[in-house]
Amino acid sequence: MRRQLIAGNWKMHGSKEMTSELINGIANGLGHVSGANNFDVLVCPSSVYLSIASGLVSETSVKLGAQNVNANEQGAFTGEISLPMLAEIGCQYVLLGHSERRELFGETNGQVAEKFSACVALDFTVTPVLCIGETLEQRQQERTNAVLSEQLDAVLEVTGIAGFAKAVIAYEPVWAIGTGETATPEQAQNAHEFIRNKLAEHDQDIAQQTRILYGGSMKPTNALELLSQADIDGGLIGGASLQAESFLGICKAAAQIGIA
Ligand code: PGA
Repeated sequence: MRRQLIAGNWKMHGSKEMTSELINGIANGLGHVSGANNFDVLVCPSSVYLSIASGLVSETSVKLGAQNVNANEQGAFTGEISLPMLAEIGCQYVLLGHSERRELFGETNGQVAEKFSACVALDFTVTPVLCIGETLEQRQQERTNAVLSEQLDAVLEVTGIAGFAKAVIAYEPVWAIGTGETATPEQAQNAHEFIRNKLAEHDQDIAQQTRILYGGSMKPTNALELLSQADIDGGLIGGASLQAESFLGICKAAAQIGIA
């Protein structure tokens, strides 16, 4: 069975104080969640706070991730951060191709694939969380599956299916991110099933073991229903990850599923 992964994407929020309060709040709260060892918990603070966060999570079960990375190992790339740097600081995961990076910073499928490929080249020391998803317009034009295919193919062409051996995928419909509007469990399950079937065309085992997270206005009130879907293996949470209480509410839903 795939272990659920509950991941918080803090985006450009936070401060030193908030980083320690939130991580301590989550770690302490998890201590009171029965079944907390049946799923994984990840936080992705701003890169500025990764170093502090790394110290805070070190004695806990909480894992640490970054929100972005540069595909190059080192060099003249002012303002960028490399994978070896993330690994050294204690990051186990990195979000790749989040829709905000694609939409606001012009990240292309090709660039996302290069970053993903860099994670594979580093032997998954830092696990990539590949974010994919369609816009409202694309959904209305019934192009959801075509868009998901394109986004996956761009990576598959560079790394092959072997690249997904240890990767995580996050399905995040762009229209549900930060809008309060959530995909219905059925819409989400359909997209997740499509993604898994696409991986299965290349390799059944990898398709079955790959965790596919749902992201887009997940909160304590809708988490259980979403996480109960057969192909939903966790959540990538923005807004609701900024308060320990709401993030823990989602963790409790994952715990319930882990026990069931
Ligand atoms: P949201 O963000 O939970 O605030 O919709 C999800 C994400 O962007 O990963």
